[in-house]
Amino acid sequence: MLTVKDLKDLKGKTVVVRVDFNVPLKGGEIRDDNRIVAALPTIQDLLGKGARLVLMSHLGKIKHKEAPEVVEEMKKKNDMAPVAACLEKLLGQKVYFCPVTRGDELTDMVKSLKDGEVLLMQNTRYEKGEEKNDPELAKIWASFADAYVMDAFGSAHRAHASTYGVPAILKEEGKPVAVGYLVEKEVAALTRCVDVKDADRPYVAVLGGLKVSDKIKVIDSLLKKCDKILIGGAMAFTFIKALGGKVGESPVEDDQLQYAKNCYEAAHGNIILPVDTVAANGFDNWTEIVEVDSNAIPDGFQGLDIGPRTAALFKDELKKAKMVFWNGPMGVFEQDSFQSGTIAICEAIQEIPHSFTVCGGGDSAAAIKQFGFVKSFSHVSTGGGASLEMIENDGHLPGIDIIR
Ligand code: 3PG
Repeated sequence: MLTVKDLKDLKGKTVVVRVDFNVPLKGGEIRDDNRIVAALPTIQDLLGKGARLVLMSHLGKIKHKEAPEVVEEMKKKNDMAPVAACLEKLLGQKVYFCPVTRGDELTDMVKSLKDGEVLLMQNTRYEKGEEKNDPELAKIWASFADAYVMDAFGSAHRAHASTYGVPAILKEEGKPVAVGYLVEKEVAALTRCVDVKDADRPYVAVLGGLKVSDKIKVIDSLLKKCDKILIGGAMAFTFIKALGGKVGESPVEDDQLQYAKNCYEAAHGNIILPVDTVAANGFDNWTEIVEVDSNAIPDGFQGLDIGPRTAALFKDELKKAKMVFWNGPMGVFEQDSFQSGTIAICEAIQEIPHSFTVCGGGDSAAAIKQFGFVKSFSHVSTGGGASLEMIENDGHLPGIDIIR
């Protein structure tokens, strides 16, 4: 697989770079620029080599099936202009912004780029063909490129026009397609969690979050690879109920009870569930909190965090681990009263600095950032969905496979 390091003689060449600038925005303000910062090494490397850069990314969701005025509203909300301004500040050089995704304005702006200059195109999802990998759209975008770099790890599980169609065309034309530094780093870390070496055992996975149904394929895949799987978060209650526990008003997926039971039994003790729970009589307007056994949650109460005995149990397992993959918070960490379980996992990771520890992005990455533990991890992924799919599919993602 070519990487950005292999791309040379770029003076006078236009390189299309797919980045993941799908950042959280509120009222036009970027609330977390992490993904933009993560793409800088690739952008700076290419600019340093004199390339003319055309950056492409999606931002948010645009449902083209909605009424035209609703689509317009979604476009306005997901306008890429603030991202261009942020990138300009971070790079310390002019970033040209093209407000459209096709047509003369875009073509002219791309053509007038000089060596070492950078242009950010409007949100790729302004085009309804983007998510359908429309060949005509991919052809337009590919026509700008002498070379293509995939550095959007967070979008690599999407076979869209900008992540798949464009490099497919360029490959056929014999033009170089490569991955960027961010994708290289992400793939190396997550591949280690998929192709497990003996030296990385015991290998412990920590899974949390709301739904078992979202994580079935991940659980099945991790069961084959890990020595232990620690399950917290709301999804634990489906397992606890499946094993005959009383979970009060905790969220349960009744259609997954049989799966949970079978999966637990097939794991022969390698799935560890919470033994105690911090429960409240409501989700956010509660008036009472209790610490109870996880299989004896009173009626009217729902579990919102793992309890202290579970935190100690999970910490004990993590202490022995040589490798950890973590996805999903242990509780409702957005509320002060239910942060302890998630913080306990962060502390446990901090206490094993010589082990290889990966956080699979999404909510757990937001939590470790909020609690100040980013440096304690070997790797924090920028892609929630992408890292999970990489685990599920034994290291394969369409946006990376097409570069290979
Ligand atoms: C993400 O935020 O997970 C990626 O940018 C992918 O976004 P999507 O789920 O809207 O495709």
